[in-house]
Amino acid sequence: MKHVAEFPNLSVCDHPLIQHKLTHMRDVGTSTRTFRLLLKEIALLMGYEVTRDLPLALERINTPMQEMDAPVIAGRKLAVVPILRAGNGMADGLLELVPGARVGHVGLARDHDTHMPKEYLVKLPDAEGRQFILVDPMLATGNSAVHAVDVLNRHGVPDENITFLALVAAPEGMRVFNAKHPNVKVYVASLDSHLNENAYILPGLGDAGDRLFGTK
Ligand code: URA
Repeated sequence: MKHVAEFPNLSVCDHPLIQHKLTHMRDVGTSTRTFRLLLKEIALLMGYEVTRDLPLALERINTPMQEMDAPVIAGRKLAVVPILRAGNGMADGLLELVPGARVGHVGLARDHDTHMPKEYLVKLPDAEGRQFILVDPMLATGNSAVHAVDVLNRHGVPDENITFLALVAAPEGMRVFNAKHPNVKVYVASLDSHLNENAYILPGLGDAGDRLFGTK
């Protein structure tokens, strides 16, 4: 795991398997089918890191040999919350890892006048004692990420119970995000160079939603 001095809450998952798969996702020649598969695989591998600090408790069980106190994930329940629509592709990977997690949805659309995200769908499990993993492949301007965390805050989830999982982030977006939510841990596979004039990440991978669903 790599850390960047400017962003103390950011972890860059630099595992070789993740980096290799991300390179294939960036490649413009990669098919929709492969892009979708790789996004799911990377989310699963990143999920392994994101869930590393989940507390364990001991549970009494019987092995075929004897009784023992064995570790199980303690109290804190998990929710995976994709930001629609590209977040769905990452949620699938996480759910393979944690099949019992609750799933919420936050649908955000860009307001034509203000250019700011506006929610068109919010459906979330109860917040009490629950750890939330928000997922969206591209943290570009940071506006959607900030808005999605605001939505969870309104729903009663404190920043300390939220982790944001993205594939690629731009430094500009990380600055916007940290100005509002410095205590939300962010995990990415890459912190890229910068945004272009249309708020696309460079070098990036293009429009994640279009590449995931084969739309244009
Ligand atoms: N959203 C995307 O899908 N790609 C970008 O580069 C930026 C935002």
